[in-house]
Amino acid sequence: MMNRTKYLIGNWKMHKNFSEAETWIETVEIPSSIEIMIAPSFLYLYSLVRLTRPSNLHIAAQNMHYEDEGAFTGEVSPRMLLDVGCHNVILGHSERRHTFGESDQLINKKICSAAESELFVTLCVGEPELVHNNGKDKAMEYVEKQLRASLQGLTSALRITIAYEPVWAVGSGTTPNIDYIADMHRLIRRVVSSIFNDNSGESISILYGGSVNSVNAQNLFADSEIDGFIVGGASLDAMEFNKILEVMEE
Ligand code: PGA
Repeated sequence: MMNRTKYLIGNWKMHKNFSEAETWIETVEIPSSIEIMIAPSFLYLYSLVRLTRPSNLHIAAQNMHYEDEGAFTGEVSPRMLLDVGCHNVILGHSERRHTFGESDQLINKKICSAAESELFVTLCVGEPELVHNNGKDKAMEYVEKQLRASLQGLTSALRITIAYEPVWAVGSGTTPNIDYIADMHRLIRRVVSSIFNDNSGESISILYGGSVNSVNAQNLFADSEIDGFIVGGASLDAMEFNKILEVMEE
């Protein structure tokens, strides 16, 4: 079986001020076998990169613009991320897609720009509830379309991790059953290999996200298709995050 990198990403969304972030970082126990990333507000990237360096705890941005500079009020560019020492970015999160109206085409521009800047990308994909209600085949079609549109024009999957996050599971307290997730991850692997015309789908890390906590993480991580998690609500409490890490280390 392919030995893929394991990840645990804490997506803090619009939570935590600087002193809360400092306390969190002091409390979290960083293992060497798992890549850990936290995605704080843009405001704290500069300070948190410095506070966590050098360690196995990496800092990621939750979003970015695709241009390096220009008249884009309120936006942050790839060049700015690199300038503050942030080398990771989450793109296509369901809240960006559904609350802020980001399309596959826009996300594709961002991914191509991130690739040019040599940023590491966690690309989120996942079907909304309405699609999910129409059955697994429809959900798979939807995710395949998202992937193909988002990755169009890229030449390699080298700096990409994919997070499968069904929109209906994010923040809802509900997770799909494990076979459903595993089938979706296998589909993602097939699609990635077909896009890049190689077997990168086998080596790419695919994370699951959507209502992960220290109780369900054990069962989910036991499936060899799941290479880690992106965690929202449960990442805000460092003790809970430590428990998820413990489960992944066992
Ligand atoms: P959740 O969020 O863990 O609170 O469901 C996950 C995410 O939005 O990445």
